[in-house]
Amino acid sequence: MTEEVQVWVAPLEVTEARYADLAGTLAVEERRRAEDLPPVLARRFVVARGILRDLLSGFTGTPAQKLKFAYGSAGKPSLVDHDINFNISHSAELGLFAFAPDRAVGVDVENERPVRRLLDVAQRFMSEDEVRTLAATDPDQRDATFLRSWVVREARLKAEGRSVWSGQETAGSPGNLTHKLFSPRPGYIAAVAASDSDWRLYTCAVKH
Ligand SMILES: CC(C)(COP(=O)(O)OP(=O)(O)OC[C@H]1O[C@@H](n2cnc3c(N)ncnc32)[C@H](O)[C@@H]1OP(=O)(O)O)[C@@H](O)C(=O)NCCC(=O)NCCS
Repeated sequence: MTEEVQVWVAPLEVTEARYADLAGTLAVEERRRAEDLPPVLARRFVVARGILRDLLSGFTGTPAQKLKFAYGSAGKPSLVDHDINFNISHSAELGLFAFAPDRAVGVDVENERPVRRLLDVAQRFMSEDEVRTLAATDPDQRDATFLRSWVVREARLKAEGRSVWSGQETAGSPGNLTHKLFSPRPGYIAAVAASDSDWRLYTCAVKH
C-alpha cells in the first residue's frame, strides 16, 4: 500500500488564457453541465474540472481531454480506464484535489464564515453528541466548531461515495476510514478521509 495521500490546493480564479486552456479539455457533457449553472458557479466548475483533468493526466499519462469519468449512485466521479482514487471539493475561490493510488479518498473544504441556521443544520445532519457540543460552545467559536465537524463528516461520506442526504454514517465503509483536518489557506478549513490509518497527507500547491 502506498502511504501517501496527496491533496493539491488550487485557486479557482484564473486568467482568461488559462480558463480557455482548461475549458478546452472538458467533454461535451461537462460543458452542458456548466451551461445549466449560474455564471459564477459555471466558471468555477469548468476551472475545477479542467484542473482535475490536468492533474489526472499527470498521474495516468492519458491526455486530459481523453479521460472519461463514470459516476457512482450519489454522483462520485471516478475514471473509467484507470484505478486511481480521487476526490475534489470547492468552496468560494479555492479547490482541493485529493489523490490516493490504493485507497478510497474523500475531501471537503469550507471557507470560514457565519453559518446560517447552524443549529438547525446540525440537528438535521449531525449526531446528538455533536449538536449538544455545538449548543454548549461559546457563540464566538460556534461557526468554526461547526465547520470543522462538517468537513470531517463530508470528507468521510465522500470517501464512501455517499452524500449528505444519505443519512448518518453506518457500517460498510471502504476499510476503516481515518481523517485529517487542516487549513489549506488562511480562512479555509478542510478534511481529507481515506481508508485505514497507514497514510500520510502531502499538500501541494497548483500554480497557474
Ligand atoms: C455532493 C456532496 C457529496 C458534496 O457537496 P458539496 O460539499 O456541496 O461540494 P464539494 O465542492 O465539497 O464537492 C463537490 C464535488 O464532489 C464530487 N462528488 C459529487 N458527489 C459525490 C459523492 N457522492 N461522493 C463523493 N464525491 C462526490 C464531485 O466531483 C463534485 O464536484 P463537481 O460537481 O465539480 O464534479 C454532498 O454531500 C452534498 O450535497 N452536500 C451538500 C452540502 C451542504 O448542504 N452544505 C450546507 C452546510 S455548510
